[in-house]
Amino acid sequence: MGAERTVAGGYRDVHRRSLRDREDFWLHAARCVDWDRMPGQALDDSAAPIHRWFPDGSLNLSRNCLDRHLEAGRGAQVALIHDSAVTGTVRSYTYAELTEEVARAAGMLAGLGVGAGDRVIIYLPMIPQAPIAMLACARLGAVHSVVFGGFAAQELASRIDDSSADVVLTASGGIEPSRRVEYLPTVAEAISLAQHPVREVVVQHRDGFSHSMADVAGDSTARWQDWERLSAQATPAGPVSVAATDPLYILYTSGTTGRPKGVVQDQGGTAVALSWSMSAVFDVGPGQTMLTASDVGWVVGHSYIVYGPLLVGATTVLYEGKPVGTPDAGAFWRMVEEHRISALFTAPTALRAIRKADPEAALVGDHDISSLQHLFAAGERLDPDTQRWIGEALGVPVIDNWWQTETGWPIAANPVGIEPLPIKEGSATLPMAGYDVVILGADGQELPPGEEGNIALRLPMPPGTLPTLWGDDQRYIDSYLSAFPGFYATGDSGCLDEDGYLFVMGRTDDVINVAGHRLSTGAIEAAVASHPAVAECAVIGVADDLKGQRAAGYVVLKTGYERDPELLREELTDLVRRTIGPVADFKDVAVVPGLPKTRSGKILRRTMRQIADGEEPQVPSTIEDRAVLDELVPVLRRSR
Ligand code: COA
Ligand code: AMP
Repeated sequence: MGAERTVAGGYRDVHRRSLRDREDFWLHAARCVDWDRMPGQALDDSAAPIHRWFPDGSLNLSRNCLDRHLEAGRGAQVALIHDSAVTGTVRSYTYAELTEEVARAAGMLAGLGVGAGDRVIIYLPMIPQAPIAMLACARLGAVHSVVFGGFAAQELASRIDDSSADVVLTASGGIEPSRRVEYLPTVAEAISLAQHPVREVVVQHRDGFSHSMADVAGDSTARWQDWERLSAQATPAGPVSVAATDPLYILYTSGTTGRPKGVVQDQGGTAVALSWSMSAVFDVGPGQTMLTASDVGWVVGHSYIVYGPLLVGATTVLYEGKPVGTPDAGAFWRMVEEHRISALFTAPTALRAIRKADPEAALVGDHDISSLQHLFAAGERLDPDTQRWIGEALGVPVIDNWWQTETGWPIAANPVGIEPLPIKEGSATLPMAGYDVVILGADGQELPPGEEGNIALRLPMPPGTLPTLWGDDQRYIDSYLSAFPGFYATGDSGCLDEDGYLFVMGRTDDVINVAGHRLSTGAIEAAVASHPAVAECAVIGVADDLKGQRAAGYVVLKTGYERDPELLREELTDLVRRTIGPVADFKDVAVVPGLPKTRSGKILRRTMRQIADGEEPQVPSTIEDRAVLDELVPVLRRSR
């Protein structure tokens, strides 16, 4: 049994209408949201190329995710299941309980002076307080910015500064299979590194961590308080009506420079687009259960752990654990059985890790997975071999979907909730509603089917996509809208086939994707270059069988610096870990005599990557000294 169908017509008809009759299409889609003021207009293009959606609408997203389901009689239905493989606990919250928790957390924030438009940093592991905090901000119209726990203090500090958040919500720490990650020293360090003064820190206590608030609060300018004590005293807060165009959240993501981009998503567009996608793309509706095995620190977590499932009255599983090793490669299948999951969403890396640990998929057979209808994969390229393997093991369609932090929901997918389309291996299938996907050559000309080029989206993009970067419209325009006027440049390359199916090949810029985590090689280079022995360096993403890509660094030492290569590797690894975080997983370092450059001094990273990956390298005619590249070839080949 699929979700309640809210999308009428076949895929081609739906997609055509979404582009041709834009106003009607999105105003109709907007009806599945409870508005305080129903919008009378869908698109506002008065400030093009910056577009806004539902300019005259107002609503509250927390109310849409919670209270309205109580009113519809779903109060006793489970809304959230926290399944923690690392602590061996499972805890469920009904819609009534979750609403109460969120209202109390919102009251706690209001008591700290947080109101509509104020920014709140959420630095939490995968515990219920993470979605509760997000929904509590949404309840007040405050803007949350969730920071992934695998980032170090410097990254946290840069997000505090860019968002100028006064309040940080955190916990004692996160639990990785091999170690406890102490959050409090990181938060304290970030606060001292940040220029912007954080006023309040609220800490959810977890047992088993060595640092307490008392250890760090003394040296801090911020006031540190205990979450449970504060929320117990708080007066529950009701939902505040906000404009559809108001920001819901800022999510920082890696760009080509070391400075992360503060992607903004708004209230109304997010509500409408995620509701639409839950039905059309994921085929999940009221009463069904979805497990999105990502992290709330990524966009996939924002959209499909928290907002999407709750908007449509489904049950969402918040999984604290890994696909393998907690305790084994059957973790997902156990949860499918235990929670009767119908939609499972994960990253291809996780599937490859499961395959490595359980090549025959024997652990699938230990569980009753009959509730599972679809497996969704995104975050990086899904290789056909893995897609075939897992599809055969589970006996359900494996749906690749392609999108980005910036777009908030799938650009291309197989719309199984409208009409399941034939799957072509290696393709993310077809554009979703409102996305007009084209392939452009370097000169901006549209390329015919079969030719690879820059994947671009004709403006306007649909609701639920970024209206801008936080506080920086110009950076938004420069970063995404200037390369091809009239289009949003995705930064990915690929091609369309004769049937319009999209094949995504990889990035056109210096962004890499390590285990589904988007990282900037520029940021890693900046960390490596800060080592006193390093004269210059290049970091590239080389193909990795498990993680899709991994970061590899090539460093030129300053004259006179002698370093034991192993010691240097350890120092640089540690430096990146401390500056960016363990998530960068930076381990490969090679000392080289020189780096290949163009005559204008640009390092030929793309050529280096092509050599490392065993591809035919494209060597620009502007190369300064071919001998430098030739000398590097054997080193690069060893990187694979
Ligand atoms: N907090 C702190 N540290 C974290 C972290 C977090 N939330 N997440 C990862 N790390 C650390 C890990 O502990 C590890 O540290 P180590 O070098 O001390 O061992 C490092 O970051 C790299 O971690 P990870 O990328 O998870 O690699 P792994 O080898 O430990 O595990 C996989 C491999 C495939 C199991 C894992 O990468 C995975 O689950 N990938 C799926 C990712 C995903 O779902 N992405 C969602 C995008 S949609
Ligand atoms: P993020 O913003 O972290 O979600 O990363 C987005 C980037 O991940 C995209 O621009 C792609 O490069 C890559 N990506 C995400 N999903 C896919 C997919 N299904 N196929 C290929 N690449 C993907």
